[in-house]
Amino acid sequence: MADNTILKLLVVDDEDQARRQIRKYIELDFNAVEIVEAANGAEALESADRWRPNVIVSDINMPVMDGLELLRRVKKMIPKTQIIICTGREDHDAPIMALRAGASDYIMKPLNMEELSLAILRAKKQWETEDFLEKNAERLEKLVEKRTARLSTINKKLRAERAIKKELESQYRQSLKMQAIGVLAGGIAHDFNNILSAIIGYTDLTMDKLKEGSRERDNLGEVMKAGRRAKALVKQILTFSRQDDQEKKPVELYLIVKETLKLLRASVPSTIKMKEDIDPDSGSVLADATQMSQVVMNLCANAEFAMREKGGELIVSLREVEVDDELAKNNPSLADRKLIKFSVADKGCGIDSATMERIFDPFFTTKKAGDGTGLGLAAVHGIVTSHGGAITVKSKPGAGSTFDIYLPKADEPAVDEIKKIFQAYKGNERILFVDDERPLVRLGMEALGQFGYDVVGETSSVEALNRFRRAPEKFDLVITDQTMPNIAGDELAREMIKIRSDIPVILCTGFSKTITPEKAKDIGIRDFILKPVLANELAVTVRKTLDLSAEKER
Ligand SMILES: Nc1ncnc2c1ncn2[C@@H]1O[C@H](COP(=O)(O)OP(=O)(O)OP(=O)(O)O)[C@@H](O)[C@H]1O
Ligand SMILES: [Mg+2]
Repeated sequence: MADNTILKLLVVDDEDQARRQIRKYIELDFNAVEIVEAANGAEALESADRWRPNVIVSDINMPVMDGLELLRRVKKMIPKTQIIICTGREDHDAPIMALRAGASDYIMKPLNMEELSLAILRAKKQWETEDFLEKNAERLEKLVEKRTARLSTINKKLRAERAIKKELESQYRQSLKMQAIGVLAGGIAHDFNNILSAIIGYTDLTMDKLKEGSRERDNLGEVMKAGRRAKALVKQILTFSRQDDQEKKPVELYLIVKETLKLLRASVPSTIKMKEDIDPDSGSVLADATQMSQVVMNLCANAEFAMREKGGELIVSLREVEVDDELAKNNPSLADRKLIKFSVADKGCGIDSATMERIFDPFFTTKKAGDGTGLGLAAVHGIVTSHGGAITVKSKPGAGSTFDIYLPKADEPAVDEIKKIFQAYKGNERILFVDDERPLVRLGMEALGQFGYDVVGETSSVEALNRFRRAPEKFDLVITDQTMPNIAGDELAREMIKIRSDIPVILCTGFSKTITPEKAKDIGIRDFILKPVLANELAVTVRKTLDLSAEKER
């Protein structure tokens, strides 16, 4: 016999004699055989469960559990076990019932041993076939499972790669577009700058010649205001087209952020809560300080605008971070670098996907004329890119937006440039600030207040002179605008110096030739500041003037 498996035969009969007879015959007839006996169905079921025979030969009529019940239960438990039922000749229905219940064969009693042996051999073959199929099916199933898993990983990878490719393509397209617009706008902006200087300069000159309060003068005042706005715009254009002069030095970003936020705080309405999470040990970046401050300003201004109606939280954070995979994939130049992450998050209106596509485009704005020009984010993008950094945006319409800026950390420690501006230029002297334009007085007071000075503001030069006359020793310095009704700046300076010869006076002038540096010096004016006045410049000039005059006294 071409046996490749051992025959495990379970013989079930309530008569010992019958079992022994079968065992004897089969042991002789089969080479490899193991036989277990059971006296009834219940016993047999238990050994079948434990021992897993491949063939069972069972009598039908037995106490406790009969052969047919055993057959049904075994077939349910181990379907591939083959069962041969032995029936009496008088029991006509038994063979049919047995076959229906899944028996592989039946044999009439009294048993013919040769016939039984043949039936067992057939049953064993059948078991082998079923066993083979079962094992193969299992193997196949496992194989399919493995292949499916591999396919799905490959699929996932492909999808991820496709997404990265798409992202890179869109980044590339965006950068080409920005470059083209940058070159175009930059070229125009330079010309505009010159043209605007002439417009502003000549307007200023002509205004000086016109009578205070006259219609003509007021009209020119409007021209002047528009001209200044245009100049500020041109500056933004030059920034995003990266043609602005950049001065990159290692600077501690946290100082710039902190100082810029201080300036911003004054203009943020009380419905918006400002929260800071700024790590002073986050390190330095190689950067242009003014431009960094512009990035902070622009992002916070957008966040503030987004929450103007409903209020909310403006959260600014700064910390050192490691490059994560996603960022490195999209910005290979940042890989393996230590980064500083600056984030501005708001709980404002959010940005829908159609708007998101265009937010960095120059001149793209969803704000009505007068509220926005659409240059803020273009400038931020230009600045961040020219500093070798990256910018990402997350937003949910209705829930708010987060702008993350990543800048490579500088290897060198920061020079004290910023600290110098913000700390070395501090003071506690008393300053009289005179300008007929109230917003400018407020600006001057705020800016100098930041640096610690005690500032008294005046919008009327007559009032200012009276105040000074009452207590000339109370002031350490006077800053005055030149162009004012009633008493002009140079005249005011002259009067004050008459009262107290050592009072330092700084004159703020526009593009004007009515007062030359020589003439100013004659009067005793210590220094000039050209309008528009910048906070930092003001602080530097004030400190310089005060220090010089203290030296003179010694
Ligand atoms: N934090 C934000 N929340 C919601 N929308 C924003 C936010 N930041 C930018 N946007 C959208 O992006 C557009 C472009 O912003 P960008 O700063 O470039 O220009 P702007 O704010 O409209 O004008 P500008 O900054 O020149 O005054 C905005 O008009 C606005 O629709
Ligand atoms: Mg903006």
